[in-house]
Amino acid sequence: MKRGSLVGVLWVVAGLSLMAEPRVTQRSYGELAGGEQVAEFTLSNDKGMTVRIIEYGAIITELLVPDREGRVADVALGYDNLADYVAATPYFGAIVGRYGNRIGAGQFELDGTVYQLATNNEANHLHGGVKGFDKVVWKGEAVKRVGEAGVVMRYRSPDGEEGYPGSLEVAVTYTLDNENQLTVSYEAQTDKATHVNLTSHGYFNLRGQGRGSILDHELTLNAAFYTPVDAGLIPTGEIRTVAGTPFDFTRPTKIGSRIHAVDEQLQFGGGYDHNWVLDKSGGKRSFAARLYDPESGRQMEIFTDEPGIQFYAGNFLDGTLVGKEGMVYHYRYGLCLETQHFPDSPNKGHFPSTRLDPGEVYRTVTVHRFSVQ
Ligand code: GLA
Repeated sequence: MKRGSLVGVLWVVAGLSLMAEPRVTQRSYGELAGGEQVAEFTLSNDKGMTVRIIEYGAIITELLVPDREGRVADVALGYDNLADYVAATPYFGAIVGRYGNRIGAGQFELDGTVYQLATNNEANHLHGGVKGFDKVVWKGEAVKRVGEAGVVMRYRSPDGEEGYPGSLEVAVTYTLDNENQLTVSYEAQTDKATHVNLTSHGYFNLRGQGRGSILDHELTLNAAFYTPVDAGLIPTGEIRTVAGTPFDFTRPTKIGSRIHAVDEQLQFGGGYDHNWVLDKSGGKRSFAARLYDPESGRQMEIFTDEPGIQFYAGNFLDGTLVGKEGMVYHYRYGLCLETQHFPDSPNKGHFPSTRLDPGEVYRTVTVHRFSVQ
């Protein structure tokens, strides 16, 4: 090694050891009508990032990220108090489960038994049912490891909850490191065969929450195929190429550039509200998506071991919800990128399986890496 590069390496090592470790603190966030206490955990680092997570719904309530000038903004839509989350939320920042996304007719058959789940989206089951994991109180515990700080959120879903078989022990761990990576790790175990598909339902606006629509954001999806849906947004079972369609995000593309195209799938979704089939070799963690806001320079990259990602363009936001700092969430003021197994997998034998059996451990990891360009 040349002397110059050795000195360089020593500087880097010295710099790393001088950089403070990410931190986690805890305080009370609020109390539910029944008297149940809800704690808030704050993760922060010296790179300008702060993440706040509450025990209700394991919701990420704030996500402070610097822009290319170092100015920090909150890029997550949400509320600034518990009562608003309880009153009405389109899953802002929450963990959705036991099954994120839709199950057709809210039914599946497992080992000869037909299970009827709660139907909360017309005739279908969506995001875990009437009272999914986004509406329960989790138990949080601060986590500190070398180079990262976080919180593990635990919840035990009883046998039969929202119609699902098996008592399910769930742990979702959020960690923040000094590379501005927010990692979400999911674990679950069951005592009866069941279906599990957990995801994080964050709404992002890289310009800052409430500061305009996401139509100018540029999106890249590492996916050559997607799963088209019927009018009720249940996959038809087809795995369709994105080539030559408004669903091709294999190169960075402004979200607004084709969202108004005449296309039956866009019509069904009211815009983008679909699952893309991620290109990958094996079940390994790989690049899934990149979201970039040319105005602020903020960029978010997503890496996951999941086979799919739901891109939802905030088509149901209509200006009726007033979020943090009094911001009004108008049409398409936020978007979701939910790493997941495909919708309706329990009824689609050729989709990757979401079945979990006793003795197995459900394990999946998604990383959100924030940077500027
Ligand atoms: C998911 C669904 C959408 C919608 C939103 C929340 O992304 O696919 O259809 O339900 O959640 O409004």
